[in-house]
Amino acid sequence: MSRLEDMVKDKQIISIVCNQWGDTGKGKFSDYFAANWADVIARGTGGNNAGHTVVINGKKRIFHLLPAGIIYDKEGKTNILGNGMVLDLKVLTEEMDELDKENIPYNNLMISDRANVILPHQIEKDQKKNKSQKKGGIGSTGRGIGPAYGDKILRHGVRVRDLFNRDMMAKRLEKAKGYYPDINIDDIISYIEPYAERIYPFVRNTIAEIHKFVNKGKKISLEGAQGLLLDIEFGTYPYVTSSSPSANGTASGVGLPGSIVETYGIAKFPYMTRVGGGPFPSELGEDISEIHCANDLDCDIFFEAKEYLGMDIDLSKIRKAQKEKNKVLLDKKEKEVVDYMRSNPEKVIGLIDSSCPFTQGVGIRMMGEEYGATTKRPRRTGWTDLVALKYAVGINGPNLILTKADVLGEAEEFRLCDGYNDGDNIVKTFDDDENFLRRITPKFSTYPGYQNITGETNYGNLPPSLKESIEYLESFTGGKVAMISTGPEPQQTIIR
Ligand code: GDP
Ligand code: IMO
Ligand code: MG
Repeated sequence: MSRLEDMVKDKQIISIVCNQWGDTGKGKFSDYFAANWADVIARGTGGNNAGHTVVINGKKRIFHLLPAGIIYDKEGKTNILGNGMVLDLKVLTEEMDELDKENIPYNNLMISDRANVILPHQIEKDQKKNKSQKKGGIGSTGRGIGPAYGDKILRHGVRVRDLFNRDMMAKRLEKAKGYYPDINIDDIISYIEPYAERIYPFVRNTIAEIHKFVNKGKKISLEGAQGLLLDIEFGTYPYVTSSSPSANGTASGVGLPGSIVETYGIAKFPYMTRVGGGPFPSELGEDISEIHCANDLDCDIFFEAKEYLGMDIDLSKIRKAQKEKNKVLLDKKEKEVVDYMRSNPEKVIGLIDSSCPFTQGVGIRMMGEEYGATTKRPRRTGWTDLVALKYAVGINGPNLILTKADVLGEAEEFRLCDGYNDGDNIVKTFDDDENFLRRITPKFSTYPGYQNITGETNYGNLPPSLKESIEYLESFTGGKVAMISTGPEPQQTIIR
């Protein structure tokens, strides 16, 4: 029996969710379980606000909609886009085109007939109202997620099955007109029809299909999206996404009971990130960091490499390329910056070791390459918040996967947030209330730094301060660390 099978034991259904604000490595672990364990890989929440990165032998793929398991379709594995998702069909068909280019088949793909479809007027609304933090939005990804889920709840969303029934689609859009007076129903239908035709062969009653897989004893892995602290129910409302990325939400998003799913909740450790607006108690640099990162494109990876590492970058050229959406040039320039950061770790660690928390946060962002997979925005960085993690463990269950500990190798010290100072009180219970989270200040425990652990696969070999802090995390949160990730590649993983 492999170590992974030994860990999962007799469980038939597992889920990989995030216990923080997203971007914790769901892509890496969804791929890991798809490659080594699952027969079926299903997503049930969110849409293309997600950016799930898989790195295999140095080749990076970022999935926004398709589950990471799609690359194992050729091995007969089934990938499902579940009922709880919202699908931008343009983005979905572009992901299919990418696979076609690489000759990667997706014959076993199933798309839920009940998933909701994101339409151009919903994207426009999201970009106007929610995207720009400078204009009072929460910093959404601008992908139309909020309006699409809003319209679903208001009962005039267009579902995948409606795409194949022109009258039904027109009826739903007629109702939506009350909220979007300017839409032209014929235009929307003509826009969506070619995409609908393309996905038609894959559309199924995925709820019935997944129940068949369960009955046949197939092993199922649910790929979560976003994170518990972005959950519409449990997250830092209103700075949240519009679905439920919790373990239960992920299960219900594919039509399964949460109670039969063994959940693995991922947390970055010993630092964590958030992208977009909203409270983040353990953030390095506090509101200066939040404002800096809200400037998104003005304070992106190029700006930071020039400003903090002294790289010779012509920012006006970069901004021009961004305006013109010159992806080839931007990708080339980004690679140059990332290569520079990777080959000058002492410069970046120098920032982490500085005495200014904001600068430390910039250094961690560079070392961890924390620039959004979906939007390229700089991710806000802070020390891992055990108070918030305890809350997540209560909702998502005890099994934990810790990622990114390798990023802080060779830094002088690290911290963990293990309480909130509220006046004279130290609070150890999380409350998602914005006023509370903005009022309190973090209490930290400090640990000595550790050497480079990149690629380590044996828990016993981890440095003492890391093991001590992991054991403290477990006693504080009630969680149980099952796996530790020591790099982006699948083999850079410890099964404890
Ligand atoms: P997701 O949204 O949860 O799938 O996470 P993202 O893909 O948005 O961001 C996680 C990033 O961290 C990706 O670039 C991964 O390749 C990378 N990654 C995942 N685990 C590790 C790890 O343990 N160490 C390092 N250095 N990188 C990791
Ligand atoms: P993955 O799956 C990190 C954040 C946005 C914004 C808020 C609402 O890669 O972990 P939305 O577009 O959903 O209405 O934005 O949620 N957000 C994410 N942050 N990772 C994600 O996905 C996210 N998806 C949404 O930045 O603050
Ligand atoms: Mg991501």
